[in-house]
Amino acid sequence: MVICKKWTLAQKFHGKPTPANFKLVEEEISENINDGEVLCEAVYLTVDPYMRTAEAVNSLGDTMYGEQIAKVTVSKNPKYPVGTIVRLMSGWRSHTLVKDTEKEIRRSAEMSDLPLSLMLGAMGMPGMTAYFGFLEICQPKEGETVLVSGAAGAVGSLVGQIAKIKGCKVIGFAGSDEKCEWLKKDLGFDYVYNYKKVDIDTALNEAAPERSVDCYFDNVGGMFTVKVLNHMKTFGRVSICGSISNYNNTEVPTGPLPFIAILKSQLKVEGFIVLRWYQRWQEGEKAMLQWIKEGKMKYKEHITEGFEKMPEAFMGLFEGSNFGKAIIKV
Ligand SMILES: NC(=O)c1ccc[n+]([C@@H]2O[C@H](COP(=O)([O-])OP(=O)(O)OC[C@H]3O[C@@H](n4cnc5c(N)ncnc54)[C@H](OP(=O)(O)O)[C@@H]3O)[C@@H](O)[C@H]2O)c1
Repeated sequence: MVICKKWTLAQKFHGKPTPANFKLVEEEISENINDGEVLCEAVYLTVDPYMRTAEAVNSLGDTMYGEQIAKVTVSKNPKYPVGTIVRLMSGWRSHTLVKDTEKEIRRSAEMSDLPLSLMLGAMGMPGMTAYFGFLEICQPKEGETVLVSGAAGAVGSLVGQIAKIKGCKVIGFAGSDEKCEWLKKDLGFDYVYNYKKVDIDTALNEAAPERSVDCYFDNVGGMFTVKVLNHMKTFGRVSICGSISNYNNTEVPTGPLPFIAILKSQLKVEGFIVLRWYQRWQEGEKAMLQWIKEGKMKYKEHITEGFEKMPEAFMGLFEGSNFGKAIIKV
C-alpha cells in the first residue's frame, strides 16, 4: 500500500487564488496491481496559469488538473518496467495508478541528456505554445519588430528567443528589473522594460517609433494590450496566447476598447489553444531540442522543492514570483 497525496479544490476560485482554495488529501493505493497496469511516483509537477480557469477543474473535491513527470515504481506491464520515466496528465498527485497505459501515458519528448523537467517547459506544453503560437500566427520575417509581454515567463522567454533566431528586433516587457536584466544580457532582447515602472507609450515610442511593431505575442491582455495595439504597424499580426492580467477579475473590466486600433492598423488578431497543433508537437520538440543543443535557446526554471508547496508555487504565478518556468520537484 502506498499513501498518495493529492491537492484538491476545496473552494471555487474567486479573485486571486488563496490557500483556502486547496486541500491536501491522502488516499491509499494498493501495490497489488493488475496485469497491464503500472504504479508511478511523481518526480516533477508543473503549475501553469491555465489551472486558474474553470475548465481545469470540474467541481469541488476534484484533484487539481495538470501534467507531471513520474517514475514507474511497480509494474505489471513489460512496456514500462520499474524505473521508466513517463509523462502523465494525472493532476496534482504524488502517486498514480495507471490502468490504461496506452491512453494515460503521454508520449515523452526526445530529451537527449537534458533535464527531465524540461518536458514540462521548453520541451513540453509551454515550449510548443511558444513555437507554434508565435511562428504560425505571427509569421515573423527577418528584420521585423516583435513585442512580447510576460517576456520572462515560461512561454514569453522562449518566444523572444525564437524571434531573435528568426532575425527580428525583440522588445520584451516583464515585471521586475532582475527579469529585464536577464532578458537583455542573457537572452539578447533588444529592448526590455519593467512594465510596473515605465509608461508603456513612452517605452514603445522609444523601442518602436512611429507604430512599428510588426508582431505582438500577448501573454497578459488587459490595458497593457490595448496600449500596445496603438503601436502596431499596418497589417501587423497579434497572437493572443494568454490574458493573465484578467484571470483573477471579479468584475467585468471596463476601459478603452481595442477595436478602433485593430481597424485603423488593419491588424490580424488571432487567439489560439496550443492543442490545435498537438499532431505536430514532434516537429516543435525537434526544433527546440536542436536550438537548445546549439546554445541558441536558453531555458530558466523556477524550481520549488516539495509537493506540499504546490499551491504556493501556483499562487506565485499571479504575483510574478516565478522567474522562468515554474516547476515543482517532489
Ligand atoms: N493559449 C495557450 O494554449 C496557452 C498555453 C500556455 C500558456 N498560455 C498563457 O500564456 C501566458 C504565460 O504563461 P506561462 O506558463 O508562460 O506563465 P509565466 O509567464 O511563466 O508565469 C506567469 C507570469 O505572468 C506575469 N503576471 C502575473 N500577473 C500579471 C499581471 N496582472 N499583469 C501582467 N503580468 C502578470 C508574471 O510575470 P511578471 O513578473 O513579468 O509580471 C508571472 O511570472 C499565460 O497567460 C497563460 O495562460 C496560453
